[in-house]
Amino acid sequence: MSSKTFKALVVTETPDQRYLREIKERTLDELPPGEVLVKVKYSSLNYKDALSAIGNKGVTKQYPHTPGIDAAGVVEESSSPDFKPGEEVIVTSYDLGMNTPGGFGQYIRVPAAWVVKRPEGLTLRESMIFGTAGFTAALSVLRLLQAGLTPERGTVLVSGATGGVGSIAVSLLAREGFKVAAVSGKPEAKAYLTELGAKEVITPEEATDTSGRPLLKARWAGSVDTVGGPILATTLKSTALGGVVTCCGNAASPELPLTVYPFILRGVTLIGIDSQNCPMNLRVQVWNRLAGDWHLEHLERLATETGLEGLSEQIDLMLSRRHRGRTVVRLPD
Ligand SMILES: NC(=O)c1ccc[n+]([C@@H]2O[C@H](COP(=O)([O-])OP(=O)(O)OC[C@H]3O[C@@H](n4cnc5c(N)ncnc54)[C@H](OP(=O)(O)O)[C@@H]3O)[C@@H](O)[C@H]2O)c1
Repeated sequence: MSSKTFKALVVTETPDQRYLREIKERTLDELPPGEVLVKVKYSSLNYKDALSAIGNKGVTKQYPHTPGIDAAGVVEESSSPDFKPGEEVIVTSYDLGMNTPGGFGQYIRVPAAWVVKRPEGLTLRESMIFGTAGFTAALSVLRLLQAGLTPERGTVLVSGATGGVGSIAVSLLAREGFKVAAVSGKPEAKAYLTELGAKEVITPEEATDTSGRPLLKARWAGSVDTVGGPILATTLKSTALGGVVTCCGNAASPELPLTVYPFILRGVTLIGIDSQNCPMNLRVQVWNRLAGDWHLEHLERLATETGLEGLSEQIDLMLSRRHRGRTVVRLPD
């Protein structure tokens, strides 16, 4: 059993620091120790996986490596009393796909503490259409609601709107009754974003201040920011009194060129979102919402499906900002 082979997308580092992506045979012996062995049915592509695939050492330190921070599948073996063979489970974040072989392989072996039982109301495939991106969008919206943001307060801005986190944040905010403005660098995506629930679509240029003023005319009641950098700084300068902004990503830049004035003169709140270390009780709560009242009718419309063989091309599309929505990876049976 332990020498059983399986297929995985493996990233290898060459001596001249190029990173090759190949579908290779791996053995179960090569997986790290862990209480739960999962046969992966679906994974999904997140920005972090794309970074892992190009040798970003902040994500993955050692190669050869199988990326995939998301996995959904069936328990094959378990030494934990919490999980039984045959149970359907979801594993996302922690170290999965970073320095632990991830969901771009047919098997993962992980600590039981990383595993969530598939909630009723969500199939394994749907759980991966949401994946870490959807989970992060949901966590961001939950935080805005917990901070007291209500639709009456005004428009909520979502940046990186055609991306995974962005598409689902637009959808969830619209579902909660918010008027949503979307920032997207893809002019052709206006119809897509409108369909998801955006009332207004603006360009990154419109969302980026060049005046250098510390505060701008109040325009937003809140925001789900996924890109960081000048767009996040401009959003914070344009957020109304008592507004709330979440920040989860750095697709544009990790820098935040800003003064303290939005915080001390307008009482703006900036909430950091860290899905990777989200405590298990909150993690289960968020998955239950995605399986329940936040399950999206148009979820399938966000999804592009690929097998392992098409994954490398999807990674390139993501890195060149030409993908949209969510890419679901179907592992071979
Ligand atoms: N903190 C956490 O727990 C957490 C969890 C998940 C993701 N993240 C982070 O959140 C971000 C989004 O993740 P994702 O999976 O949604 O990625 P994604 O699907 O690649 O979406 C990112 C979107 O940002 C926009 N974008 C890309 N490059 C940009 C640039 N240079 N300047 C401005 N906008 C740019 C694009 O949207 P448009 O073309 O529509 O503008 C792109 O679709 C990433 O930085 C990711 O690492 C963080």
